[in-house]
Amino acid sequence: DSEKQVAKDLENFKIVVTAGGTREPIDPVRFIGNFSSGKMGYAIANEAAQRGAKVILITGPTNLKVPTQVISESIETVRDLQESLNKAVTDADVVIMAAAVSDYRPLEKAQHKLKKENFDGNLEIKLVENPDVIANMKRPDTLKMVVGFAAETDDLLDHASTKLAKKRLDMIVANDVSGNGIGFGADDNAVTLLQPDKDKIVLKKQIKNSIAREILNVVAEKIMK
Ligand code: CTP
Ligand code: CA
Repeated sequence: DSEKQVAKDLENFKIVVTAGGTREPIDPVRFIGNFSSGKMGYAIANEAAQRGAKVILITGPTNLKVPTQVISESIETVRDLQESLNKAVTDADVVIMAAAVSDYRPLEKAQHKLKKENFDGNLEIKLVENPDVIANMKRPDTLKMVVGFAAETDDLLDHASTKLAKKRLDMIVANDVSGNGIGFGADDNAVTLLQPDKDKIVLKKQIKNSIAREILNVVAEKIMK
């Protein structure tokens, strides 16, 4: 039942979780977004709070309710996200970067709604690259672990392990998003956890809450040492 005892093994740890997808405005009524539902990040935030952590959830727009005992901050653009994260991390023990970050943004936001009559059938929007938020995040002395996500449709583990190293992560959650009722938007997920110099951990298809529990078990083990 809901009164089940949960071990407070994350008490006294501050965990910053990012979740959901970013939005990059094109004009006052349109944006570039992605299919992230936020479910995985919210499940992690909820589980961490249940286990006694102080949780800051930095979130893009979602349809989800902020879990109890979680402090949330809403963001839209990648640059908002970067600013919020760099503030929140200053005394954090763990950062879990589950947000689906837009790699590009329109060079400029049009001040007025774009009208079809102004284009002869083709519209080109110039995009510029966003900063890599996790790779460039300031890392305070308090920080013990940085966890990233990799959503891939091809060569999952190769791409994920390249990102693990390149972004200097302590763990990456590799997520096959090529279909079959897992990943973006779904209630279930199936992932592989990669850590430098450790055996991979394969988590078969299960509800996102239970994936969150497994991820936090690895986090708890590492930060307790
Ligand atoms: N990420 C980030 N800032 C970005 C892009 C991604 O912090 N500008 C983070 C994501 O939140 C995730 C990890 O980096 O935790 C991997 O994101 P992913 O999109 O898989 O990697 P990219 O480096 O953007 O590579 P690509 O999209 O080309 O596969
Ligand atoms: Ca990306």
